[in-house]
Amino acid sequence: MKASLLRPRPRLLRQLLSRSALRKLFVLLLVWSIVEAQLVYYRIARAQREFETQDTALQKPTRVFIASLHWNNANILRSDWNKGVVDLVKTFGPENVFVSVYESGSWDDSKDALRELDRELDKTGVGKKITMDDITHEELIKSTPNKEGWITVPSGELAGKMAPRRIPYLSRLRNLTLQPLLELAKNGTTFDYVLFLGDVVFDVSDVIGLLNTNDGHYAAACSLDFSKPPLYYDTFALRDAKGHEHATQTWPYFRSSKSRNAMLNGLPVPVASCWNGIVAMPTSAFTGIKPLTFRGVDDTLAESHLEGSECCLIHADNPASRTRGVFLNPNVRVGYNRAAYEKVHTPGSWLSLPQIYFGLWKNRIARRVTTPWLKENTVARRIRKWQQQGNDREEPGWFCLINEMQIIVYNGWKHL
Ligand SMILES: *[C@@H]1O[C@H](CO)[C@@H](O)[C@H](O)[C@H]1NC(C)=O
Ligand SMILES: *[C@@H]1O[C@H](CO)[C@@H](O)[C@H](O)[C@H]1NC(C)=O
Repeated sequence: MKASLLRPRPRLLRQLLSRSALRKLFVLLLVWSIVEAQLVYYRIARAQREFETQDTALQKPTRVFIASLHWNNANILRSDWNKGVVDLVKTFGPENVFVSVYESGSWDDSKDALRELDRELDKTGVGKKITMDDITHEELIKSTPNKEGWITVPSGELAGKMAPRRIPYLSRLRNLTLQPLLELAKNGTTFDYVLFLGDVVFDVSDVIGLLNTNDGHYAAACSLDFSKPPLYYDTFALRDAKGHEHATQTWPYFRSSKSRNAMLNGLPVPVASCWNGIVAMPTSAFTGIKPLTFRGVDDTLAESHLEGSECCLIHADNPASRTRGVFLNPNVRVGYNRAAYEKVHTPGSWLSLPQIYFGLWKNRIARRVTTPWLKENTVARRIRKWQQQGNDREEPGWFCLINEMQIIVYNGWKHL
């Protein structure tokens, strides 16, 4: 044995370096993280149990204005959605509900499926406006470019041509679904909540749970949406309490500790923005003195290759978001198909112990090895430049923006 190896080293260091000590440390870490996962599992299961045993009997009449947009989703309409809406009408009482549906340009069976819904709703006597618009994307693209909501395509096969932007298009349709709400308000007919229903599988208890989020105290409450679980779906509109995008697309998703901690406890998650499947907002936001409307960012800002969802900008524009808060309710989970819905509705706890254990580690590592700074800085730089080019230019929804240009094409939309 060489002499140098026998030279005495400080004891602590020697112990730390010894293999058995390292092993102990590793075992300790493993035990700690299993205990942690077990605790979180317990809390989430408890939150789910409390949610499932909530009183779904309506204490007082709740008046709900339902608004939805449809494009090529006949399958889900026929399999689940139509029935979900009829069930809602029957539960809340036809006199307390209005159904506002706007479909445009579908080439599948959506129009027929909505006619079926129309007939079912007729039997209940509920107030409704079901619009089926024949204008297809193709006709829209070929129409004369509007002053607003169109953009010059910078490159590719459409380079130099004007194309309609996706977000202003969707904003216009969403605004149209709210028209009956405004007209009825003028006539003195009011509602408590606007309920935006995506093309998802949901049931009555999901909706009642959503309305009761945070004991009914919110500017907006959203469900969590799944198309291919365990990944959540709508990444475009979800921003954590600090305005960041997710750290992981699997549970517990968030980078901000405020949002993540709520998720770990199965509690309503404070976020800057969400629009994941179904969303409830108090009607006052749309009928007040300064009524909210859906919008896209200014065309001149979109020209710098930035886009933000109308469903995120609405929270940025809503003053109540700051005072009452926007919440994602992790106990209300919806699916873009039945299989996805079932997968996130397992009895006991919707998350398994391994999902929690690995989810926590994946998120922890992702938060350390990735940074939102680069993406966010690109966006911030472009906004600053845009602001310098014109007076009074401001975009409160900066946290909604991403480095994309989205246009309508004949068979849907695409990002450039
Ligand atoms: C949204 O609705 C408001 C009020 O109805 C309207 O003034 C505005 O132009 C609409 N926005 C879009 C993008 O169509
Ligand atoms: C509101 O009242 C006016 C006048 O009575 C009526 O013409 C209109 O249809 C009503 N609007 C709605 C949405 O019921």
